[in-house]
Amino acid sequence: MPIRPMTETDLPSVLTLQNILGFQKWNEKQFLSELRASYALCLVDEEAGTFAGYAIFHLMGSDSELLTIAVDPKFQRKGIASTLLHEGLDKLSQEKGDHCFLEVREGNTAARKLYEKHGFQAYNQRNCYYDDGETAILYKW
Ligand SMILES: CC(C)(COP(=O)(O)OP(=O)(O)OC[C@H]1O[C@@H](n2cnc3c(N)ncnc32)[C@H](O)[C@@H]1OP(=O)(O)O)[C@@H](O)C(=O)NCCC(=O)NCCS
Repeated sequence: MPIRPMTETDLPSVLTLQNILGFQKWNEKQFLSELRASYALCLVDEEAGTFAGYAIFHLMGSDSELLTIAVDPKFQRKGIASTLLHEGLDKLSQEKGDHCFLEVREGNTAARKLYEKHGFQAYNQRNCYYDDGETAILYKW
């Protein structure tokens, strides 16, 4: 599973995948600002040259965060999100970061199982956090 840094030329694929999955509504400008932020680690997974997924971390020591992770439905359940997660957490550890935070919709079972499999623990929740009233579960690694 070849992981590489995301570049501006990936943005059409990133936006298309985000829209197919419908789980977040970032615009191109938001992704661009992540690409330009010195503390952001923006990764892409390609399978035989085909764009398959992405993840964005903020590497900020003990305040590090996983902002987003997504895998094309055609490539799901093949370990791609796990590989993206490992890559980000390895980098974080190399930079002496010891925590990584994230928030996820309460009903997003796939993502919650992924995070729990990789050592994230739920530590709090924010009721009615999302536009539609869904609760956010806060996880810490
Ligand atoms: C969550 C998501 C990133 C997982 O990607 P993936 O590449 O399929 O994940 P992996 O193959 O690495 O799965 C690792 C583990 O996560 C869990 N998991 C992943 N998908 C699951 C599903 N649909 N149902 C239950 N558990 C699931 C399993 O424990 C799995 O291990 P297993 O396959 O050995 O059982 C993917 O489903 C996705 O893109 N969802 C939409 C976007 C999203 O919700 N992102 C997270 C919020 S920011």
